[in-house]
Amino acid sequence: MRELSTWLLICTCISPWVGLGVSIHGEGGGLGAGSFICLNNNILRIDCHWSAVELGQGPSPWLLFTSNHAVGSNHRCVFRASECTLVLPPEEVLVPSDNFTITFHRYVSGKEQVSLVDPQYLPRRHVKLDPPSDLQSNVSSDYCVLTWSVSPALEPLISMLSYELAFKRQGETWEQAQHRDHIFGVTWLRLEAIELDPGSSYEARLRVQMASPEDDLAEEQHYAGQWSDWSQPVCFPSPQTSARGPLLSPRGQPDGTLVAVPVFLLLTSLTCLLFKLSPRVKRSFYQNVPSPVAFFQSLYSVHNGDFQVRAQLTAGVEGESGLAYILTR
Ligand SMILES: *[C@@H]1O[C@H](CO)[C@@H](O)[C@H](O)[C@H]1NC(C)=O
Ligand SMILES: *[C@@H]1O[C@H](CO)[C@@H](O)[C@H](O)[C@H]1NC(C)=O
Repeated sequence: MRELSTWLLICTCISPWVGLGVSIHGEGGGLGAGSFICLNNNILRIDCHWSAVELGQGPSPWLLFTSNHAVGSNHRCVFRASECTLVLPPEEVLVPSDNFTITFHRYVSGKEQVSLVDPQYLPRRHVKLDPPSDLQSNVSSDYCVLTWSVSPALEPLISMLSYELAFKRQGETWEQAQHRDHIFGVTWLRLEAIELDPGSSYEARLRVQMASPEDDLAEEQHYAGQWSDWSQPVCFPSPQTSARGPLLSPRGQPDGTLVAVPVFLLLTSLTCLLFKLSPRVKRSFYQNVPSPVAFFQSLYSVHNGDFQVRAQLTAGVEGESGLAYILTR
């Protein structure tokens, strides 16, 4: 509990500095350094954006990443205009326990000035993955399978990756695209023929994010960040489905019928069962059904109330009320 409250305290103190990435406003005695956002691909690359870019002479400003754990590990991210990119050496691939101090360095009147940006930059809290690569389609008669690749460095985390798919007809804009999300831990998915207009060409693209962690995940595995950019799109024709026409298809009723028939059968058998099993239901049901005598006076006098045959004839047409007559007798 104490640990938790310490954490909350730390978070509360730090949160004014931390937006989506790390940001700090004019720290360090009126330097007016602006704010910084640093996102990483959870492998080797950290990209930072600087809001208050200034064009000066002399060396470009830079951010210095100093590891809080590995003594002697520090790396410069040198700005070009408002952006800088730091590529770590392969042996320092980012891991969940990484923790850096970020400082901002620049020359003012020939002297190096340093200001603190973030005393504990945790890369796993600021992830923006590279977009999925190698998106491919394989169209068969009833569906289209899309597959993609994940960087080998992320394979251990594959179950924590969440995807969003956008697909549209060629010629439409991406704003008009249909979306599908909640795609977790896989590297393929299936678009059914009924989701696509026949005879059209489609385009699809994908983006990825570290999945929102479960509550019970340990804090050291807690990832956060934002969506990757979109992948390169893939183009594919809609499946040449044989089961298109509502009545002509060999295996295909239209969907509505496919669902309605079993549901109707189920309801009918349930009703029958209910009547068979429970005289109570039967009684209460008939409390609300007007006696047929009033409506069929003549029939009653002729057949003495036994018009089962007639009722069966109407059952097909009148549905349940006809059915009810058969069941009473
Ligand atoms: C990160 O490093 C700082 C400085 O050493 C330390 O105070 C902080 O507790 C560390 N944070 C985590 C989550 O390890
Ligand atoms: C495409 O799918 C078919 C059947 O699902 C499979 O036999 C074939 O190997 C796939 N082709 C590729 C390139 O994946």
